[in-house]
Amino acid sequence: MKKNGRDIKPIVWTGSTVELIDQTKLPNSLETVTLTDSNQVISAIKNLKVRGAPAIGIAGACAVALAAQKIQKETVKNQPIDNNSHSLTKLEIFRQKLTSISNQIRQSRPTAINLDWAVTRMMFIMHQSDSINTTVLKLNDEASQIIKEDITANLSLSHHGSALIEKNSAVLTHCNAGALATAGHGTALGIIKSAWASGKNISVFITETRPVLQGARLTSWELSQTDIPYTLIVDSAAASLMYSGEISCVVVGADRITANGDIANKIGTYGLAIAARANNIPFYVAAPLSTIDLSINSGDKIPIEHRPAAEVTSLLGYSSALTGLTVQNMAFDITPNHLVSAVITELGIIRQPYNLNLEAMVNS
Ligand code: MRU
Repeated sequence: MKKNGRDIKPIVWTGSTVELIDQTKLPNSLETVTLTDSNQVISAIKNLKVRGAPAIGIAGACAVALAAQKIQKETVKNQPIDNNSHSLTKLEIFRQKLTSISNQIRQSRPTAINLDWAVTRMMFIMHQSDSINTTVLKLNDEASQIIKEDITANLSLSHHGSALIEKNSAVLTHCNAGALATAGHGTALGIIKSAWASGKNISVFITETRPVLQGARLTSWELSQTDIPYTLIVDSAAASLMYSGEISCVVVGADRITANGDIANKIGTYGLAIAARANNIPFYVAAPLSTIDLSINSGDKIPIEHRPAAEVTSLLGYSSALTGLTVQNMAFDITPNHLVSAVITELGIIRQPYNLNLEAMVNS
């Protein structure tokens, strides 16, 4: 019997370690890495061992908890912690150090707001706690809580979103917004799995997602754990398949949704949205509320991560372009809200006008 996506546990927080499925090794081998230090987690986020907006938020929360444990140990060993800081209490010094490491964690990837959201949530707990020991314990619990809430949110948004997927439809998805990109089940791919589980006889088109191939490597691997039929296409085939009527709708995830409903997501998403609109195909965006950033009113203010040229100039370890040429490797793009048919969250489905409806849902 095939497994369902809920069996995939990309991040396990044990209270003293973070166990990650190393996503750079998929689909060829399923390997986990055990991280015990916040710097290791920062590297794992930067190197895409863990990736996907909710997943990097969760990894970031675990990194804050690990950093707190380390600073706590140093506090016991070294009396005082910092010779220049006699006027500060141990708790204040602990908080200063943890805030500084948390800022490094926060900055490890800039586009997905979930990372900033999760670290801010951990910092809030730190400021609420009145001793170092209590802070460490509460941060451990908070990391577990964030994981639990993410799975619950994904199941809920997948339930809402599956209502939008018609029977016998062919759904196109981009990048990987599945269990691997979250604590479990997934967002866009979660909707596809839930629609399938509800008895809708659907099929999936997966875009390769150049240059890092999250679609070819990760989404296809996740769907291979299910009975859902899927077909891999090169990114540039999507518009043509929409024109020929082979695609019923597009469902993607998001890295950040601004107050007006603009969407940051994997590079290529904007092109898919334009092609979907040109062919009268619904274009849906699935994300938990933790991806909504009401502090920014439009997508042009979202920082877009630029990644190393080598991701574009080599394929599977082989050089695929001249060495030394100029490369622009934007990892994300912005899809303007007018191309988005609906945003699907754990609280339900939001449509235009997004500038009113997103805020109302976040504050409900
Ligand atoms: O660079 P990545 O792989 O982290 O990019 C991931 C995406 O763009 C996903 O679509 C997005 O984070 C949503 S994941 C639920």
